[in-house]
Amino acid sequence: MNAPLLEVDDLAVTYDGPIGLFRSRRPEPAIEHMTFDVAAGETLGIVGESGSGKSTTGRAILRLETVTHGAIRFEGQDLSTWGPRTPLSYRRRVQAVFQDPSVSLNPRHLVSHGVQQALRRHGVTDRAEVADRTRRAFELVGLTADHMNRFPNELSGGQQQRVAIARAIVLEPSLIVCDEAVSALDLSTQGQIINLLEDLQSETGVSYLFIAHDLSVVRHIADRVGVMRAGRLVELAETEALYEDPQDPYTRSLLAATPASHPSGRDERRAIRLAGRAEAT
Ligand SMILES: Nc1ncnc2c1ncn2[C@@H]1O[C@H](COP(=O)(O)OP(=O)(O)OP(=O)(O)O)[C@@H](O)[C@H]1O
Ligand SMILES: [Mg+2]
Repeated sequence: MNAPLLEVDDLAVTYDGPIGLFRSRRPEPAIEHMTFDVAAGETLGIVGESGSGKSTTGRAILRLETVTHGAIRFEGQDLSTWGPRTPLSYRRRVQAVFQDPSVSLNPRHLVSHGVQQALRRHGVTDRAEVADRTRRAFELVGLTADHMNRFPNELSGGQQQRVAIARAIVLEPSLIVCDEAVSALDLSTQGQIINLLEDLQSETGVSYLFIAHDLSVVRHIADRVGVMRAGRLVELAETEALYEDPQDPYTRSLLAATPASHPSGRDERRAIRLAGRAEAT
């Protein structure tokens, strides 16, 4: 069997405590003993309540946090061997989509600008190629030439998130860390974006680390799901197994806490499917 695309091995991240305060007390790790992998073309969901360490895990993989223990390997390469500067090739191949697209879009530039800039930053300088790849990326996410030439505030939240996805996929990444990528969107727009991510995955073979607090969304998109509690992974299993036969008591209580009218999230999944094929809104 091929090595996984991404391996996370006994990972810990500890944030520095406030300087000067409680200096004698060692800060608690935000995450520890995190071990999992992501295969090429796979979607690994990460769920857990607020503060459990989901974003910290994603940010460590994106090299936005300092690893205090353990290792992250990408195609067998240990990231710690790089030092503080992340090679451009890794920054190209591992992309991110966050919750609030309006934060990552520059309000003073046309939305096409950010996508073009991403290409230029990664060495694509030929003007015709930049224009062509930008247009294709917008097409792939279901946006038109008209959308490309608007400012962020002239697009809906769902359309803005499509732009964020266009900027991620234009670089043909191997892995996209999606941190609450659909959480700010209404149910039908969530469905459209989820379907878009799935379509892109079947077209390009990209892997997703799909972080979300919404268990039903994760059930819809993930091949396997990891459940985090207080900085640790308490359970990791194939999606159906995890939802139908959770082994850890915490997973059970998390599933039991989903709304009573649709305890397994089936109604929401249906809504996602029904909303799926509508136009980009
Ligand atoms: N920059 C930071 N400095 C200090 N502590 C932090 C920092 N970022 C996060 N933490 C702490 O690390 C822990 C994990 O936070 P994290 O953001 O990873 O949680 P999360 O699971 O993504 O939560 P949410 O669902 O609310 O997004 C929390 O206790 C949080 O307070
Ligand atoms: Mg978070």
